[in-house]
Amino acid sequence: MTPALPSLPVTLRDRRTSDLPILTRWLTDPAAEWRRWDAPYFPAAGTTRTMEAYADYLAAHGPDADEQVIDVDGVVVGMVNRSEEEPEGGGWWDLGILIYDPAYWGGGVGTRALGLWVQDTLDWTDAHVLTVTTWGGNERMLRLGKRLGFRECARVRQARLWEGVRYDSVQLDLLRGEWRGLPQP
Ligand SMILES: CC(C)(COP(=O)(O)OP(=O)(O)OC[C@H]1O[C@@H](n2cnc3c(N)ncnc32)[C@H](O)[C@@H]1OP(=O)(O)O)[C@@H](O)C(=O)NCCC(=O)NCCS
Repeated sequence: MTPALPSLPVTLRDRRTSDLPILTRWLTDPAAEWRRWDAPYFPAAGTTRTMEAYADYLAAHGPDADEQVIDVDGVVVGMVNRSEEEPEGGGWWDLGILIYDPAYWGGGVGTRALGLWVQDTLDWTDAHVLTVTTWGGNERMLRLGKRLGFRECARVRQARLWEGVRYDSVQLDLLRGEWRGLPQP
């Protein structure tokens, strides 16, 4: 069933110093539920080290236009990011999204936040095509992307091994000219 888009306001904004404690707590918790969904096939110890280094990076650097926090009615619930695929100026940007707290999953927050991020990326970059990359076990991410108009553009079959089961690696793409705008509530 298509979830109602959230009744609470979802916005993207620059990271603030006051966000660091909550971001650090969620990013560096090795038992956080999001770790079972965001590339869980990578060794956990390596992910923990990467996340600790990332939290340190956030503490040492100011906000970045290619990375925003997701704010739901004043509560920081996650982050979106983007990076340009090489070569610079080639028009291909890859987008990422992470909502830390499972209490905010499945209610339309991700659709709203990634939709805002697509719009921001089209407004502020020369992107011609956007991609998101996930795996076959992440049904929420796949459905969210397709609801926004992304289409499957690559599938490497059985490329990811997680708890003894093989899943496909899946990439979705969206052309600038295909963007229909944010889904209406
Ligand atoms: C993936 C993620 C961003 C999605 O955000 P969200 O707020 O949960 O997504 P939405 O509620 O907007 O949409 C989820 C879609 O999955 C469906 N869904 C919800 N719960 C589901 C479940 N348990 N199983 C399968 N599908 C489910 C919803 O019905 C909706 O699809 P629809 O619009 O076709 O009906 C979020 O769950 C998250 O951050 N998860 C952990 C980290 C992660 O996986 N990041 C992405 C890495 S590539």
